[in-house]
Amino acid sequence: MGILISPSVLNSDLSDLAGEVGRISAADFVHLDVMDNHFVPNLTFGLPVVERLLARTELPADVHLMIEDPDTWAPAFAEAGARSVTFHVEASSAPVRLARELRKRGARAAIALKPGTGIEPYLDLLPEFDMVLVMTVEPGFGGQSFIDGTLPKIRRTRDAITALGADIWVQVDGGVSRTTIAGAAQAGANMFVAGSAVYSADDPNAEITALRELADAAYRG
Ligand code: DX5
Ligand code: ZN
Repeated sequence: MGILISPSVLNSDLSDLAGEVGRISAADFVHLDVMDNHFVPNLTFGLPVVERLLARTELPADVHLMIEDPDTWAPAFAEAGARSVTFHVEASSAPVRLARELRKRGARAAIALKPGTGIEPYLDLLPEFDMVLVMTVEPGFGGQSFIDGTLPKIRRTRDAITALGADIWVQVDGGVSRTTIAGAAQAGANMFVAGSAVYSADDPNAEITALRELADAAYRG
């Protein structure tokens, strides 16, 4: 399974979103954090901005929905052309039905778990999803510290996927940096969201390459 780096634009200059995405051509995806000020105490951008941005970049979009009622709102992001759409299981009333709706529209379907949410209730449903996002901070803001206590959950998730023999990605998001990425890769994550680490670097593309190399060296699938 390949190592993928998906920089989050959350802490970039949001007044020049297309320009900021243009600075991460070495990335595999661009991670777009959609927040509604209800599921999390922060507000970013929604479908119209994502649609416009998709027209301005070659990078596939990795949309992370931190919103209430994703069952209603998520399919439109798949229709708009997002390559991957992640919704929080805490907010969905029918995660399997929603995942099928997303796949039907040509997107990869992913569930996200907050740090306090266990993977166990969802293990039997794993084949319905293309990726599991294990949040490594409380969702809502960039620049927080990686929560080491999430590492066992990353490992349990990867072990369950291996036991199934399925090709399901494990993503981590929050506090991912040169200091923390190897631990997450060793626990079995293969897709890494990095916001402040990439956008606070003088050369975002060099930072992406450095992160990818560290993850590659440590990955235990
Ligand atoms: C936080 C967002 C993240 C955030 C990560 O809720 O989901 O994608 O941008 O930022 P860093 O890498 O700075 O922790
Ligand atoms: Zn995110």
